[in-house]
Amino acid sequence: MGGLRADGKLGQRSGRMRRFVIIGQTASASGDFRLDDIAGTSGRIDVLLRCVRAALLVSHGVRRAVVVDLVLRGGPGEPRVLRIDGDTSKFLRPDERSLAVLVQKALKADAQGGRSGFVSVRPGVSVRTGGLDEALAEIGDTRLFVLDPDGEDVRTLKDIGGTDAIFVLGDHLGLDAETRVRLKALGASPLRLGPVAIHADDAIAVLTNELDRREAQAP
Ligand SMILES: C[S@@+](CC[C@H](N)C(=O)[O-])C[C@H]1O[C@@H](n2cnc3c(N)ncnc32)[C@H](O)[C@@H]1O
Repeated sequence: MGGLRADGKLGQRSGRMRRFVIIGQTASASGDFRLDDIAGTSGRIDVLLRCVRAALLVSHGVRRAVVVDLVLRGGPGEPRVLRIDGDTSKFLRPDERSLAVLVQKALKADAQGGRSGFVSVRPGVSVRTGGLDEALAEIGDTRLFVLDPDGEDVRTLKDIGGTDAIFVLGDHLGLDAETRVRLKALGASPLRLGPVAIHADDAIAVLTNELDRREAQAP
């Protein structure tokens, strides 16, 4: 990836694409939560908002070639997937409240659901009905990883930085058994970042740093 560009975006669209899929086991699919108590009223969508920041935002900019899918499995209308594409998104801000407003507006904008595929609700932000399978519908031959403290250590994986990849993470509750089984069936490789289970947004930050270092060294 290159440096920060004039439009505040980091990196190049062509080549390596990173996607993060975060499974929000209780996160509100309807957007019905209070902005003055996000953590207490949203099924912990705050955890996912911090993941968005860790995956997409750098100091004074937004990463291109990074897409984040939030799989929302909580409350009315679940499951839904909210996608944020760093390449086309605008006005992404790092504070949790701003991101909560963005997510809430996006979920309300397509509140009726029912339409097939992702529906664009604002630049770089789209929503669709569905869960993990729908988020991974266009996976093709992209490498799929599940972040798991019991997996293979990221530092022993040689080629992870040089290809497109999708990384699936759990939220504060981790990953449920059904999701793990499905990911295994899809051929996901368990990937360990270190010996300690850390918060999901920290896991994204650690992995992103690892990928940045490798890409910076790539010819
Ligand atoms: C807060 S952790 C989940 C904790 C949960 N109580 C559990 O035991 O699964 C959130 C997610 O971050 C990822 N994660 C956390 N630490 C990790 C590590 N050391 N290696 C790989 N992934 C990790 C996993 O995907 C995990 O589901």
